Amino acid sequence: MSSTSTTATASALLAEIADVGRDAVRGGYTRRVFDPAELELRAWFTDHAVALGLDVRLDGNGNLWAWWGAPGPDAVVTGSHLDSVPGGGAFDGPLGVVSALAAVARLRSAGFTPSRPFAVAVFAEEEGSRFGVACLGSRLLSGAIDADRALALADADGVTFAAALTAAGLDPTRAGLDEAALARIGVFVELHVEQGRDLVDRGVAIAVATGILAHGRWRLRFTGSGNHAGTTPMTDRHDPVVAAAAAILATRHRGTAALSRTMQGEASAAAAPRATVGRIEVIPGGTNVIASLAELWLDVRADGEAAVRELVAAIGDDARAAAKLEGCAFELHEESFAPQVTFDPAVRDRIAGVLGGPPLIPTAAGHDAGILAGRVPTAMLFVRNPSGVSHAPDEFAGEEDCELGVDALVAVLEDLL
Ligand code: GLV
Ligand code: MN
Ligand code: MN
Repeated sequence: MSSTSTTATASALLAEIADVGRDAVRGGYTRRVFDPAELELRAWFTDHAVALGLDVRLDGNGNLWAWWGAPGPDAVVTGSHLDSVPGGGAFDGPLGVVSALAAVARLRSAGFTPSRPFAVAVFAEEEGSRFGVACLGSRLLSGAIDADRALALADADGVTFAAALTAAGLDPTRAGLDEAALARIGVFVELHVEQGRDLVDRGVAIAVATGILAHGRWRLRFTGSGNHAGTTPMTDRHDPVVAAAAAILATRHRGTAALSRTMQGEASAAAAPRATVGRIEVIPGGTNVIASLAELWLDVRADGEAAVRELVAAIGDDARAAAKLEGCAFELHEESFAPQVTFDPAVRDRIAGVLGGPPLIPTAAGHDAGILAGRVPTAMLFVRNPSGVSHAPDEFAGEEDCELGVDALVAVLEDLL
């Protein structure tokens, strides 16, 4: 890996990390926060930032800040994240980070001097793939999650976030709301690969975001009676997997019904509700074992908190009924929630003006920019993704579009700085 290619393109920088965290089983990348692959990416980022003359600091929540000159106040901050979903693509997160590095390199080589403080940020655990809560670093920083709750979150091996921070050399007692860090941010701009086909359909490479749908994660727990798959009569079972299966189907049916109702109204397809079960845990998970416990992770997104909560309640009712029918206990826990976001209209319009009137589009994906929007002005740029796929190995952005993304980010930074 190079640490001195300070004028590399975004694609060349992505190529440098193309082998880090590859997932031989799922395909794509698995880069969980503070796992070796993500730590390698953090070190790689730090090397590049230092080579560009930036001063890299790690905050108490595990977020990296690379400062051009002295930190804040009223700083312009850009960046994204380096962690991924399990078996994710190469662009979700890293594109925003490499574009920021490429933009700094361009500004440096043009002899540009910022008139405001400026930093590149890398946020921790954006995907929530390890500890379950998405955007954990920016939530902690902005007070959107209580530090005690975050520190007690555990990964699949029972390692707590507190233990992971300690292993990464951080002091868990420093985790939590960071008013000093927030006070340094004047505006945060996150560049991100588009996670849909809007820009492909429009034939345009770059867009500015308008907002993010309300969304959250819930855990559905079905507790039954573990027993022998061979000797337990079919009429004498309390199988949590059967109840969970009914809840998965209910998720699809309820989500589709909510979609039909939405489409009869004025709402656009972009604001349509979505309900997904993408993670299933069965305990103990043996072929010849009737499980004792099944857990589903439910992801629901819709136009506004009320619509999300209505959909979750309906799925919860169906799941409870399915559990009762099977003689299982049922619990529904909210793991995280992110309210509807409208990005700062003044910053959005200023950026759109700088970029000559790009499309203004909403998204149903969560981002650190969305969490930070609760405390500071934020904005997002999207780069066209020809596959339209994200959170999967087919996620893509072409080399030329990545450079157009860097061009856009440079123009925005020159204007803001
Ligand atoms: C993050 O990418 C999310 O939308 O869940
Ligand atoms: Mn993502
Ligand atoms: Mn992302």
